[in-house]
Amino acid sequence: MRTVVLIATGGTIAMKVDPEYNAPRPVFGGDDLLALRPDISSLAHLEVRNLFNLPSEHMGPEQWVRLQRAVSEELARDEVAGVIISHGTDTMEETAWFLDLTLNTSRPVVMVGAQRNASEADFDGPRNLFNAVRICLSPEAENKGVVICLNDQINAAREASKTSTSEVATFKSGDFGFLGQVDPDAVRFYRSPVRRQYIPLLEGELPRVDIVSSYAGADGRLIDAAVEAGAGGIVMSALGCGNIPRAQYDAVLRAIRRGVAVVISTRVPNGRVFPLYGYEGGGKTLAEAGAVYADNLSPQHSRVLLMLGLQHGLNTADIAGLFSA
Ligand code: SIN
Repeated sequence: MRTVVLIATGGTIAMKVDPEYNAPRPVFGGDDLLALRPDISSLAHLEVRNLFNLPSEHMGPEQWVRLQRAVSEELARDEVAGVIISHGTDTMEETAWFLDLTLNTSRPVVMVGAQRNASEADFDGPRNLFNAVRICLSPEAENKGVVICLNDQINAAREASKTSTSEVATFKSGDFGFLGQVDPDAVRFYRSPVRRQYIPLLEGELPRVDIVSSYAGADGRLIDAAVEAGAGGIVMSALGCGNIPRAQYDAVLRAIRRGVAVVISTRVPNGRVFPLYGYEGGGKTLAEAGAVYADNLSPQHSRVLLMLGLQHGLNTADIAGLFSA
């Protein structure tokens, strides 16, 4: 029987309603979760590593690095067919993309969570966990990178975003759709993620990168504040195909002059950003000022990629290369 490792980090999939506070809190570890699906033991030999028990709001770069090291250790063992990470759904896409970029493996790494906690009769965690084991054992899951699987739907880390606050089918991949699905009889993939890249994780802290939103009437004060707070990079959650209000444009110019890398993403869920318009704050003026365009990465995906690029000391041209790779 093949070995699959479950690394538990917390999230709703580890939560029950605390009777005194009358609200869900993370209480149980990976073994408790496995115990809810005893039939899992017929699929594989499961090993559990309880790394954290945190809501994903409390996950951040420090925890990503510790998790990356833990996954790498497990994947270094020949007998491990794949690794499952149980995690809160709220920031799962950031952790998934960080791992996808920094792990160099052909074996499956599957992230799972739940939208309903274990005190609810229709808790979705056990099914997602069971499916994740099946993905780890599927030859079709090789070379797909880190995937997120909830509600039988398999999404690529680069593309997946949480799209519903409460539906169990919350992770979607925008216009491109799922990589595949888990059915009762088979795990089936229908496409492979083609825009994958590997960026080795270096020792030391990841540089600070902040996300600043654009909206009608936004001024530049939050951009200036990010620079003052020591950000090495700023991701703009810009408008449309990558344009920002005039006052933000002035602040972006100030940031770039101080050596801060600025990446332009968009608050629009689908489509690429590109340097189009010629008015101040339009894409062409931003690109000429030295801002980098994020292709079709969301602001939160862009932040992770920029952190890794800055950790490697990349200049603007090389950062632009990362975002167009
Ligand atoms: C969290 O992200 O930890 C809370 C919400 C969830 O897991 O769905």
